[in-house]
Amino acid sequence: MTVPDKAMDKPLILVVDDSPVNIDLLLDILKADYRFGVAKNGLKVFEYLEKNRPDLILLDIMMPEMDGFEACRRIKSDPELKDIEVIFITALTDARYIARGFETGAVDYITKPLKAAEVKARVRTHITLKKMKDALNRQNLVLEERIHEKTAQLKDMFLATVNAMAMMSESRDPYTAGHQQRVARYAAVIAGRMGLQPDRIEAIRIAGMLHDIGKIRISVALLNRPGQLLQAEWELIKMHPAVGYAILKDIPFPWPIAEIVHQHHERINGTGYPRGLSNDEILPEAKILAVADVIEAIISHRPYRPARKMAVALKELKDNRGILFDGAVVDACLKSTDFLEEDQDGDLVDPMSAVAGGVGKVYGSQNL
Ligand SMILES: [Fe+2]
Repeated sequence: MTVPDKAMDKPLILVVDDSPVNIDLLLDILKADYRFGVAKNGLKVFEYLEKNRPDLILLDIMMPEMDGFEACRRIKSDPELKDIEVIFITALTDARYIARGFETGAVDYITKPLKAAEVKARVRTHITLKKMKDALNRQNLVLEERIHEKTAQLKDMFLATVNAMAMMSESRDPYTAGHQQRVARYAAVIAGRMGLQPDRIEAIRIAGMLHDIGKIRISVALLNRPGQLLQAEWELIKMHPAVGYAILKDIPFPWPIAEIVHQHHERINGTGYPRGLSNDEILPEAKILAVADVIEAIISHRPYRPARKMAVALKELKDNRGILFDGAVVDACLKSTDFLEEDQDGDLVDPMSAVAGGVGKVYGSQNL
């Protein structure tokens, strides 16, 4: 069995003085309650600190090679050492030296001749304060770690909830299963190419995941009906951005998700819906989402038509650059369509497509 070494529990003090008499005097005053290290000048302090972390340094000022002021200045400017408290113990009693001692970062300044009771009291006070400070720092680290864990948990829960909402709205419409996730991904890639900050890209991704949530108000029969839509049916479908806004507007997202969703069918020349906004009235995030949405809609299968080639989507973007779609967004998208190819060859083709066939027409180039 290991017997705990009580002496090792005592705080460690580094005594720095070029006079052996002064060192002996300090050790004599403090020996009952502390452990000690000794250095004979400022340079020796740093040799000692390479291997030891004292709780306190009692530092003489007038010493050969490096004086106490310089040693203290170096300790306080070193991120690894700056938390070690320093008390000057010196024969320099002039107010200017005392002021300079505190300016270099010392917590106290004791003048010689030493009075045992005063030295003990001041050292005890600063050691106690240091212990409290260390305990507080440890507590802060634990709290920071817990906050970090809880934040990560909340973020996971938030993303899972967004995903569940997206799946819920898409479950009624087998033809567009996964549409929102793909639009979210395309929009995030385009936003990244445009140099948007990560936080805004995250907002675009979340808005993309939920942009068609308002379709939950549209009947399943209408969503899944092949063939051309009647004008009245088309008017019903055009309500979905406003319905999405109404569903999302009271959720305290840290971004304007509801407004981005509200604007995802607006066009920069004012011909979009539901409000006919134009140019700067449309959020940049909504302009990006609009382009991602159109690409995904064109290259996907719909009840009223089969999936079309990527070339068709790119032509749509080029033809309407600066007219329907923001020029900078289109340019970022046209840089490369690598991020779309996986979907065009892979998971995009819906198993229902063989049944539904390519009947009906879409309203111009409008996607739903
Ligand atoms: Fe939509």
